[in-house]
Amino acid sequence: MGLRPLEEAQWFEVDERRSEELELKRTLLETHRDVVVATTDAGNAPSEELLAATLENLANFHPNLARDCRTGEHSIVQASLLVQEDLCVLVRDDQWRLAAACVCFPSRWSLAEKIGTSLDAIHAPVPGYEEDLASPTHAFFDRLSPERSFWRLNWTLLDDLALHQPFRRDTPLGSRAEWYFRVERQTLRKLPETGAIVFTIRTYVTSLEEMKRRDPYFVNSLLVSLESAPPATTAYKGWLGVADTLRDALDEESRNV
Ligand code: HEM
Repeated sequence: MGLRPLEEAQWFEVDERRSEELELKRTLLETHRDVVVATTDAGNAPSEELLAATLENLANFHPNLARDCRTGEHSIVQASLLVQEDLCVLVRDDQWRLAAACVCFPSRWSLAEKIGTSLDAIHAPVPGYEEDLASPTHAFFDRLSPERSFWRLNWTLLDDLALHQPFRRDTPLGSRAEWYFRVERQTLRKLPETGAIVFTIRTYVTSLEEMKRRDPYFVNSLLVSLESAPPATTAYKGWLGVADTLRDALDEESRNV
């Protein structure tokens, strides 16, 4: 599952893109509200607790940030407009279910399809999830305590820089110059009063060219990961042909040295 312990001070990451990303969230909330927000009754009280926890965290660790809550909005939307992260709340009945969410920057999945559904149903399209991840993920959710939070990373390659990508597309990527390395930093934290679990997703997008500039070995490492991915994962992620294209480019570069 790739989970690591999370310090409270690191729950939210703030950088120079904050104003731009919060502005984009505000625009999406006005133009595509049904796509980016979904709530259920079971998610209302946890969303209020999440908003209070968010305000407390910002006051403690980012005291200089503007905290312009929109009154009259659902609490999960208010909380989401304070941070660059997307926010989800999961509540346990017979299973852990997605009970409320404000996700402005999805990586090719639809919030409307997932709201109210269980962890297993959410992950149904993910190759290998049922066999390898479902059982440890359930156990982890049941054991998670408010005292210890966790984070994990997920990454992919996309041929589109946009943060807001609600449409599934598992066709191969376009041309290499347009490839972007997209990383999701995800955190999991249990709320003490309602017992709900907050799942945050922070999305970073960097062009492959820029990643190469920052680290000359990046493309080689990427190639190792792409070539060792099972075929079903390659198809799910839309990476068909990507490893070959990268390998050809590396071979050509080494011939030109
Ligand atoms: C320990 C917890 C979790 C693990 C180990 C996990 C693992 C994964 C993995 C491996 C993928 C495939 C993504 C890829 O490789 O690009 C995935 C996709 C996804 N996960 Fe999770 N996940 C976890 C928690 C959650 C939670 C709490 C949510 C709640 C919203 C969630 C929502 C999703 C969604 C929406 C997708 C995309 C599914 C699709 O393609 O339709 N995950 N997850």
